[in-house]
Amino acid sequence: MPCMFQPDLLLNKRILITGGGTGLGKAAARRFLELGAEVYICGRREEVLSATKQELAERTGGRIHARRCDVRDAAAVEEMIGVIWADGPLDVLMNNAAGNFLARTEDLSLGAFQSVIGIVLMGSLHATLACGRRWLAAKRPAVVLNVTTTYTNTGSAYVVPSAVAKAGVQALTRSLAVEWGDRCIRMNAIAPGPIPTEGAFSRLLPRPELEQAAKDRNPLGRFGTPEEFANLAAFLVSDGSGYINGEVVTMDGGEWLQGAGEFSVLGRQLTNDEWERMKPGKPGKNS
Ligand code: HXC
Ligand code: NAP
Repeated sequence: MPCMFQPDLLLNKRILITGGGTGLGKAAARRFLELGAEVYICGRREEVLSATKQELAERTGGRIHARRCDVRDAAAVEEMIGVIWADGPLDVLMNNAAGNFLARTEDLSLGAFQSVIGIVLMGSLHATLACGRRWLAAKRPAVVLNVTTTYTNTGSAYVVPSAVAKAGVQALTRSLAVEWGDRCIRMNAIAPGPIPTEGAFSRLLPRPELEQAAKDRNPLGRFGTPEEFANLAAFLVSDGSGYINGEVVTMDGGEWLQGAGEFSVLGRQLTNDEWERMKPGKPGKNS
């Protein structure tokens, strides 16, 4: 698919993507580089970060930096942000790093909750505060883009640590959009539906046939793509979306709405004959 943006959309924007070494963060890093941004990625695995840095530098010719950092560790995040700022201030922070797995909640240890909430909620908070305090002190406009999920409002069984943490990130998004909006710091979120990545699908699809069932459940009959995610991310961090603040943009093919609609499931349950018989004037139609 050809790039839908003008090639200098993000020219000279300095962007940090947590968890940018893999999956959706990596796809966003690639798109941002293609659009002229200077990109920083971080994660826990040095070798993954180095490989991504090399691959994306070769593919795009853009400026990309990689740094090992566990976002659960506030001091480590503060140090990383300090090192980045020594080169120059960031314009955009994308809180993308996450942890998740399927489990029955009653089986979970406290450590399991701490691990996921530590990455998703505390990690987003650590990076947001480290950047936000610097932006506010310098009176510098900036953008934060968080990555949540479609179950932040509904909750979801079997991913409770993630649901709790992502709901917190959504609240952080909406709260700071208002609190920091008057200082020109915008904060938005993307809530993606299922998009195939090794990190997510290896942990959340225990049987291959569940993949088809997940597609069948979606009004569009397919999963999203990392490129579609990256395009939305590029739009939301660009100056052209400057009046969007405190918004959570769902991109899930309509999946969660289908689950919420009382009669939506009828599309899979009623036959064509039954739909025909319900038309006015047909035999068997209740008038
Ligand atoms: C129950 C588990 C568990 C599991 C780990 N734990 N996996 N408990 N079921 N499957 C527990 C451990 O026993 C331990 O508890 C604690 O969690 C920490 O585990 P570690 O393995 O030591 O943690 P760590 O190496 O830091 O790994 C973190 C992780 C892992 C979250 C557990 O999955 C990870 O690294 N994930 C990163 C990538 C990822 O998850 N990507 C998917 C994002 S998809 P104790 O008590 O022993 O300390 C997403 C949304 C998808 O977020 C939505 C799709 C529509
Ligand atoms: P992914 O490839 O597993 O991405 C997660 C990234 O977070 C990895 O690069 C991982 O790198 C990093 N990370 C994990 N723990 C970290 C920590 N403590 N410190 C720093 N980095 C850490 O999965 P993904 O599918 O691309 O997910 C990206 C984002 O999209 C997440 O926020 C996820 O919740 C969200 N999302 C994904 C989907 C989907 O279907 N794919 C749907 C809804 C929402 P290391 O392991 O090297 O640290």
